[in-house]
Amino acid sequence: MFAVTLLAGLFGSSLAYPFSGNSEDLFQRAGISSGCSSTVPESCTNSTAQSDLCCFQAPGGLLLQTQFWDTNPSTGPSDSWTIHGLWPDNCDLTFESSCDPSRAYTGLLTDMLTTQGAADTLTFMKTFWKDINGNDESFWEHEWSKVSAEHRTSQAVFSSITLDVACLPSGSIKGAEAVVYFNTVVQLFKSLPTYQWLSDARITPSSSETHTLASLTSALKTASGGFTPALDCDSTALNQISWYFHLRGSIIDGDFVPITAPETGSCPSSGIKYLPKSGTTKTSATSTATGAPNAIPTKATIHALQNGAQVGGLLSLGTWSTQSLATYTLSGTADSFTLTSSKGSCGVSEGVFACGSGDSSSFSAVSSGKSILLASNGDLNFSSDFVPSGSTVSAVNVGANSKEVYTLSIISA
Ligand SMILES: *[C@@H]1O[C@H](CO)[C@@H](O)[C@H](O)[C@H]1NC(C)=O
Ligand SMILES: *[C@@H]1O[C@H](CO)[C@@H](O)[C@H](O)[C@H]1NC(C)=O
Repeated sequence: MFAVTLLAGLFGSSLAYPFSGNSEDLFQRAGISSGCSSTVPESCTNSTAQSDLCCFQAPGGLLLQTQFWDTNPSTGPSDSWTIHGLWPDNCDLTFESSCDPSRAYTGLLTDMLTTQGAADTLTFMKTFWKDINGNDESFWEHEWSKVSAEHRTSQAVFSSITLDVACLPSGSIKGAEAVVYFNTVVQLFKSLPTYQWLSDARITPSSSETHTLASLTSALKTASGGFTPALDCDSTALNQISWYFHLRGSIIDGDFVPITAPETGSCPSSGIKYLPKSGTTKTSATSTATGAPNAIPTKATIHALQNGAQVGGLLSLGTWSTQSLATYTLSGTADSFTLTSSKGSCGVSEGVFACGSGDSSSFSAVSSGKSILLASNGDLNFSSDFVPSGSTVSAVNVGANSKEVYTLSIISA
């Protein structure tokens, strides 16, 4: 039954531009139904307070499907933008940043997508949802955490996001809402072929040509059926686009209603370059290490990256594990900071990293593309005798002398 509602939603007046995906994709978005009525108001357009927050996205009723154009290093096919994410901003353009740690699903997304009927979505993500350092799964986890946010207002925790676990039909499989999220993002992205739309207007990547913002937005507005996106630039080089939506109903099976961007992006009004992808694709975390980042987070989890994939991270004693990660406090600057966990301060003694053992050392941070890596005395390599799994943990040694070598990535919590 939901498929009919979904078809009506996607092909009806609410989505004016042509849907470019294979029509079978329409049936992949959700294996579950929200049960929401189709007469709820669109998010951000209600005139009275809505009480059923499983069927009305608030806060976070302004949804942005963001896409990257990464050229150096480049990611994804040379004739397609890549997925950044789907962000639930507040109607007033502010946004929440807390996330629900119980739903981080760290290290589980690939399995969840595979076992819950979304293998095609996963295959698509591997080509079109790329992390600039090759750490795709941790990038997907990071994007998912923005939508699995937990909102707290005056002591009350309320399910403000229609993908809250409390909004799922009873008996739903663990992670069903994450699978819905990834299916939805992929489907929306397929309906927004930015590269094709620009190329239809004879705007293709070039290292010499420049464009006005008006010529880019007007081409995209025409192709999308009348909706202007926001364009972001790195200096004068186009590098990101945000397509905006309101939502009628639940993310599970509601209608994404395209709207014109309520804010402009960071591109200048003229002299914009749409550069070709360089073709150099980075696949390991350390290969793009480029000195200290501008800032480090004050609260972070520390993830282990091995051969470009996240394998768990650090617990509060400073051991490596695939269990729920500890939150660390960082004090100082990127060049020199201390680390503290709930067990106490962290330090390196006889080459072993540990927290709460009485040692305290200073660490530094090194940028690697979009990641921030932990360094001890300038060494980005950490190693252990074995890769942990289940309830086992391994001691973390500084340097690459033990069998399993990895880097540690600092992820803002
Ligand atoms: C729309 O509904 C939300 C959620 O109930 C509420 O917070 C907001 O104030 C409502 N907006 C108006 C204009 O009533
Ligand atoms: C990390 O280990 C690799 C291989 O053992 C070595 O080539 C590299 O220099 C080390 N990097 C650092 C920053 O120590």
